[in-house]
Amino acid sequence: MPVILSGGSGTRLWPLSRKAYPKQLLPLIGPESLLQATARRLAGFGGAAAPIVIANDDHRFLVREQFEQIGMDAAQIVLEPMGRNTAPAVAVACLIALSRTPDPVLGIFASDHKIDDQAGFLTCLAKAVDGAKAGHIVTFSIRPTRPDTGYGYIRHGDPIPGTGGLDKVDAFVEKPDAATASNYILSGDYGWNSGMFVFRASVMLGELERFCPEAVTTARAALDKAEEDLGFTRLAADAFGTAPNIAIDVAVMERTDKAATLLTDFGWSDLGAWGAIHEATETNGDGNGMVGPVVQRGTTNSYLHAEDGRLLAVIGLDNMVVVSTADAVLVAPMDRAGDVKDLVADLSKSG
Ligand code: GDD
Ligand code: MG
Repeated sequence: MPVILSGGSGTRLWPLSRKAYPKQLLPLIGPESLLQATARRLAGFGGAAAPIVIANDDHRFLVREQFEQIGMDAAQIVLEPMGRNTAPAVAVACLIALSRTPDPVLGIFASDHKIDDQAGFLTCLAKAVDGAKAGHIVTFSIRPTRPDTGYGYIRHGDPIPGTGGLDKVDAFVEKPDAATASNYILSGDYGWNSGMFVFRASVMLGELERFCPEAVTTARAALDKAEEDLGFTRLAADAFGTAPNIAIDVAVMERTDKAATLLTDFGWSDLGAWGAIHEATETNGDGNGMVGPVVQRGTTNSYLHAEDGRLLAVIGLDNMVVVSTADAVLVAPMDRAGDVKDLVADLSKSG
């Protein structure tokens, strides 16, 4: 049973990604949004059920409209009155799944990824489902290419016999600091966590009950008092509001001994920051990725994006990000573009 998490805010892609229109709902690469691409990708899995989508209440109509646009149905759209990161959302998913079917295998999928090799992804997913049936919490490990501090790191342990390539997870470290990430890369023992998880609902719920019981009690209360509204399931705000604000990676994956991982090679990218968007965009001979009406002279290795029909003209830039929208413009060196997250935090503090 596929579950798509679509409640993130994607602030590192400001000014395109906004609270009202976060990155998973934007057509960042290609004509479809990342959420639409995720739904389509999962539909390719043989016998796959329609996905459960867990999103923020503010985006309910956008989410439904985006499914309608691609002629697909979500099995259920669950609305969070406020974001509480991914652990409470996973608890909600497990409880819903168990109320529908006796102990199904669940796949939790982020909605902010690009995957190039669809067939390769589906082959890996099939192996993960088998691993989940055997009681493992399966993650996909990606060969790391740089000491990125925006990812979880997985240390591969011994192979698990008879699983077609699953390894035990010896250690899972969510978003280490830069020095630790560099050591991990040098050691060669670590992969990046792709942010997708496949498991039996009872197994994950058991681990959540063990390591983060408040996520389960609040999720249960929020579901018990949920209201059905125009076909959406809206979690009760008073209960969900008391859920711990914690990622599943920290709540469970760093602590569980049930984790297994599959080393994958399906052309994955978390389109988390402008650098990744630049890499995912077709570039010209000078290494420039250009979207919208853009003209340039003597500019190299830059990402230039103009929205709203407004012409963007740049001269003599190298390794820069320039994103121009109707009401905000970002200009930053490529290697500092991740700092936009802090800038957005400052902006929202100052109202
Ligand atoms: N429903 C819901 N509610 N979804 C959420 C929430 C929430 O409060 N917060 C985030 N999400 C969704 C996002 O929209 C995204 O699809 C997914 O959950 C993952 O959240 P991110 O906020 O994008 O996480 P991350 O990228 O920082 O880290 C995760 O993914 C990395 C790979 O992309 C972790 O799993 C890392 O370990 C991993 O390396
Ligand atoms: Mg992400």
